[in-house]
Amino acid sequence: MRSPEESTFSMRISVIGCGYLGAVHAASMAHLGHDVVGIDVDERKIALLSSGEAPFFEPGLPDVLASSIASGRLRFTTDFAAAAEADVHFVAVGTPQVADGDAADMRYVDAAFSTLLQHVKAGDVLVGKSTVPVGTAARLAEQVESTVDGATLAWNPEFLREGFAVKDTISPDRLVYGVPAGDAGQRAARILDEVYASAVATGTPVIVTDYATAELVKVSANAFLATKISFINAMAEIAEATGADVTQLADAIGHDARIGRRFLNAGVGFGGGCLPKDIRAFSARAKELGKGEALAFLSEVDKINLRRRDRVVDLVREEVGELAGARVAMLGLAFKPHSDDIRDSPALDVAMRLAEAGARVIATDPEAVESASRRAPQLEYAASAEEAVRDADVVVLLTEWPQFTGLDPAAVGELVAHRSIIDGRNCLDPAAWRAAEWTYRGLGR
Ligand code: UDX
Repeated sequence: MRSPEESTFSMRISVIGCGYLGAVHAASMAHLGHDVVGIDVDERKIALLSSGEAPFFEPGLPDVLASSIASGRLRFTTDFAAAAEADVHFVAVGTPQVADGDAADMRYVDAAFSTLLQHVKAGDVLVGKSTVPVGTAARLAEQVESTVDGATLAWNPEFLREGFAVKDTISPDRLVYGVPAGDAGQRAARILDEVYASAVATGTPVIVTDYATAELVKVSANAFLATKISFINAMAEIAEATGADVTQLADAIGHDARIGRRFLNAGVGFGGGCLPKDIRAFSARAKELGKGEALAFLSEVDKINLRRRDRVVDLVREEVGELAGARVAMLGLAFKPHSDDIRDSPALDVAMRLAEAGARVIATDPEAVESASRRAPQLEYAASAEEAVRDADVVVLLTEWPQFTGLDPAAVGELVAHRSIIDGRNCLDPAAWRAAEWTYRGLGR
């Protein structure tokens, strides 16, 4: 059966790298009607995906995986040679932060292109989706053109949000194609229009640029979002010093359409696999370009963000007096709700710091307990909020899952040792918690 968004023009696509980005991209492209092979070196991941199972929690992904595999349009393999059956090749491997600095680790991108190029033919289009330092595409384009005559590189950054990844891939809010000048570039743009035919047909803006602009669109978008969050968190610091309420402040300034209310939620700050490492890699790249000053503010953005974690640790200490021996219920481990991703998670970081200071941390999260318990075996884990809060000296909410924001203060009050709550996402109604005789502490309110 055809899905409603299905393209009338089926393309043969390979997707190199089946992590958050690649697995979602492969399944979504097959859902749109294309013939897709997903390729990754990780055998476990490929085995899971082949059986229709998502290797991570992402709403909607299991459905598109299962239906696309059943339709015969999607398969996964560890064999790079399978790319030879495709005409359009997306490279979606990770670019993590290097271990000894701020820059992006380009090993996986470079390896993916070198291997992929052994299986590419004239006329193929290679499409970079990974987030890379500006200048990467121009460098890789030389490699592509000198290895396979008539193959073209395009750069097509991805803006998907975890938790909405399938929706963001099938119906993106814009498409950016970085292509070379001339006929080859125009042809690559036309081919990408065919890949994304359903989105293009519904009027999704398509911006065709040079390579450098396309690469910069991605990192500057993330830099802007990170700055917006750190801006409101800086206001939270001022609010704490003055008795003002940062949530009301955000509501009030957010009514100005030029500012906008979205991404102005003050709290324990941003984490995840993108924003923190992307702003660091962007700064590192600017320094290499002799333009470090232009992005010096991003180091402040990073510092403001990390100071919010210190603030939560301080608040817990204030609430319990002495961290050593205190029983802390930690609600949330993932870097944001609707995800099991704990990469650079503020919640997990705070939990580990409290445990290191001697607190007994009992943590829970609807999806992230398994990954967190592998990373942080020193914490205790509970299956539910009700279990985690039992006999707690203080409750700390750091990931705003609906399961937590919907808790009934009176009922939870019956379970804890002390009615003290720290709302690290400013997502609870302070009046309701105070009415149930809780000491409520938010961030910047
Ligand atoms: C982000 C970008 O939004 C996405 O466009 C890009 O492709 C990848 O990076 P993601 O990492 O999935 O996506 O998460 P996002 O929803 O942006 O949230 C990032 C972090 O910021 C989370 O830790 C979240 O809790 C935090 N955040 C977000 C705030 O602290 N306040 C806000 O107002 C919004």
